[in-house]
Amino acid sequence: MNVRYRNIDGALGGVALVLLLLCAVLASSCSHLFSTPRDAELRKLLADDRPAARVDFEGDVRPILEARCLPCHGGPSPAAGVSLDTREALFASGFRGSFVVPDEPLRSGLFRVIILSDSEPGAMPPTGHALEVGEIKLLRNWIRQGAQWGGEEDATLQPVEGAEPRSI
Ligand code: HEC
Repeated sequence: MNVRYRNIDGALGGVALVLLLLCAVLASSCSHLFSTPRDAELRKLLADDRPAARVDFEGDVRPILEARCLPCHGGPSPAAGVSLDTREALFASGFRGSFVVPDEPLRSGLFRVIILSDSEPGAMPPTGHALEVGEIKLLRNWIRQGAQWGGEEDATLQPVEGAEPRSI
């Protein structure tokens, strides 16, 4: 009798141990998913309130938009009907409010989707193509500095062909 009970205890203990190990493995892989080095770097960037060097639209911002966003959000049939290729389009509104709210990155739809974790729905550019933190920093500082449109008033930004896939 006693021996059998001890065996059952042993078996239960084994099952508990396996479950515990499984939880530990899941927890560690999840925390890895939710907190990548990029996320940590981003948090640091968002907490940094110091004034930044002047960002130039033509030299700094335009190339990022043209290479990383316009392959989908430019031209005659932009993804999700969201055009980001003219001054008027950039300052228009989408589901998440205005894409660019001068001085306020965190209220700007364009900024809010680029700081999502790469695996989160709605992250831009879509899954697996997140911007570098340095690129995010330039876009953030451009918005913080008043989001001046540096080009000709009615210029249309041009997608860089082949820089991003057209489909997700
Ligand atoms: C591979 C194609 C692709 C690229 C590249 C891409 N997007 Fe998108 N974007 C989409 C699609 C598809 C949607 C709609 C579905 C969704 O929200 O996931 C979307 C939705 C959005 C929205 C939400 C629209 C709203 O109404 O609020 C914003 C803002 C946006 N993209 C900004 C950007 C920015 C900024 C970049 C560049 C840094 C970018 N996207 C790059 C395909 C793309």
